[in-house]
Amino acid sequence: MSKRIFSGIQPTGIIHLGNYLGAIKNWVDLQYKYDCIYCIVNYHAITIPQEANILAANVMDLAATLLAAGLDPERCTLFVQSDVPEHTELSWILTCLTPVGQLERMTQYKDKSQGQNADSIGAGLLCYPILMAADILIYKAEGVPVGQDQTQHLELTRDIARRFNNTYGETFPEVEGIFTKAAKVMALNEPTKKMSKSIPGSYIALTEEPDSIRKKIKRAVTASDADSEQMPPGVANLFTLLESFAPQEVVDRFVQEYAAQTIRYAELKEAVAEHLIAGLTPIRERYQALKEQPEQIKAILSRGAEQARKIAQANLQEIKEKVGLKYY
Ligand code: TYM
Repeated sequence: MSKRIFSGIQPTGIIHLGNYLGAIKNWVDLQYKYDCIYCIVNYHAITIPQEANILAANVMDLAATLLAAGLDPERCTLFVQSDVPEHTELSWILTCLTPVGQLERMTQYKDKSQGQNADSIGAGLLCYPILMAADILIYKAEGVPVGQDQTQHLELTRDIARRFNNTYGETFPEVEGIFTKAAKVMALNEPTKKMSKSIPGSYIALTEEPDSIRKKIKRAVTASDADSEQMPPGVANLFTLLESFAPQEVVDRFVQEYAAQTIRYAELKEAVAEHLIAGLTPIRERYQALKEQPEQIKAILSRGAEQARKIAQANLQEIKEKVGLKYY
C-alpha cells in the first residue's frame, strides 16, 4: 500500500499564495503518488472567535478553492474536520498525554496569546497543536505536506506519538514534514514576516483579480534595513514567486541581472505580476465556476468524510482498546 499523507488547512476566509506555494501545490502533486487525505479544519478555526454563518460559508469557499487549485476527489480524500468526530475523540486521549509546559512553549501559541490576559485566552488556543496531532495520527499518516511555520507542531506530533507508543505499545508511525521550495513565503509589505491573512497588504489571494495583483506586487518592499551583502528579503521573496510561476529562462535572466547589478526592480515586479496572473487566472476561473455548484461540492465533501471516517473509526477502536477504554 502506498504511503499515507495527511494535511489540513483552516477555513479562515482568505487562501493566499503562502498557503498555495507552501502547501496546496504539494497536496496536488502528492495525490498522484500517495494515499492522500486532506482536511478543512473548522475545529481549528474556532480556537479564535468566528461568526457562525461566516465560518460555514468559509468551509464551502475553501473547498471550492482547493478543488480549483487542482485537488481531484477521484485521487484524494477531501473532507471537513467536524464531519469526522474521531479527530476530537483522539484529541482528548492525546491531551491527557501532553505536558502543559510543552504547549506553552509553542511559538504560535506565544505569538497569538502575546499581550493577552490568561483569563481571556481560550484553552483551545493552547490545545490546538494536540488536535493537529490527532488529525494526523488518527490516520496513522507518515507524510505531512505543510509550510515551514508548522514544523514545531510536527515535532510535538512526533513527541506525542512516541509517548503514546511507549505507554501503550507501538501504534503510530514516525511523522515527517514534506516541504516545497517555497516553504516560507514572506509578506509583500513586511518581508521579514511570513505572508499571512492577519497582515493586510502582505498577501495575494489565490482568487485575486489581475489588477489587484499588479498593484500589490508594485507596492512590494524591495529595500532592506539590514546593511548586508545578502539579497534583501523582499527581493528574495519576489524571486521565490517568479521561480514558482515563470519559465526557467525568465528566472535565469533576472538572476544574471541581479548578479551584474543591472536589475531593475520595476521590471522584476512586472514579470512577477504577469506570470502570477497567468498562473492564477485558470484557478480563479475554475473557482468561480465551482461556486455556482454548491451541491457538487457538498457531495464531494460528504463522500470524503465517509471515506475518512472508515479509517478513523478503525484506528480509534484499536487506540481505545490499548488505552483501556473498551470495557466489554
Ligand atoms: P493554516 O491554515 O494556517 O495554513 C495552511 C497551510 O499553509 C501553509 N502556510 C504557508 N506556507 C508558506 N508560506 C506562508 N507564508 C504560509 N502561510 C501558511 C501552512 O504551513 C499550512 O501548511 N495548523 C495548520 C492546519 C492543520 C494541519 C493539521 C496541518 C490542522 N491540522 C494536520 C497539517 C496536518 C494551520 O493552521 O495551517
